[in-house]
Amino acid sequence: MDYSELLLLAEAAQRHAYAPYSEFPVGVALLTKDGKIFTGCNVENASFGLTICAERVAIGKAISEGCREFKAIAITAAKATPCLPCGACRQVLAEFAPDLELVFRQAEKQVWVLTLNDVLPFQFTNASLGGPA
Ligand code: THU
Repeated sequence: MDYSELLLLAEAAQRHAYAPYSEFPVGVALLTKDGKIFTGCNVENASFGLTICAERVAIGKAISEGCREFKAIAITAAKATPCLPCGACRQVLAEFAPDLELVFRQAEKQVWVLTLNDVLPFQFTNASLGGPA
C-alpha cells in the first residue's frame, strides 16, 4: 500500500467525523502488517470528555476484528497539517505497535513519515510491568 493512498483513505474517513463541538474533523487509516485497512474518525459527545479520537476508533475496530499487528497509520485533519496524535492515542497505539509508522501530509502536500518512537520515546508497555516486550 502506497502511503499517499493510505492518506486518501484517512481523508475519506475524515469526512465522516462527528465533531460538532470542536469543528476539528480528524480521519485515520490504520494499515495492518498483512495489508488490511481500518479507518476511523473522531466521535465527539455533548459531555466533552467522552469524545473518542479517530485513532482509538480505528484501533477498536481492528482489535474487535482480530487484527493486532500494525504497520502504519495515516492521520489527517481539515485544520492541521500535519495532525500529530494526542498523548492518549500515542499510548494506546504503543500498546499494539511500538514501531508503528505515522504518516502525515505536510502543508506542501508531501508525505511525511515518523515512527511512534519518535513522538513517544521511552514507552510504558507490558514490558514495563515485567511482561513480554
Ligand atoms: N482528535 C483526534 O481525533 N485525533 C488526534 O490525533 C487529535 C485530536 C480529535 C479529538 C477532538 O474531537 C478534536 O480532535 C479536537 O481535539
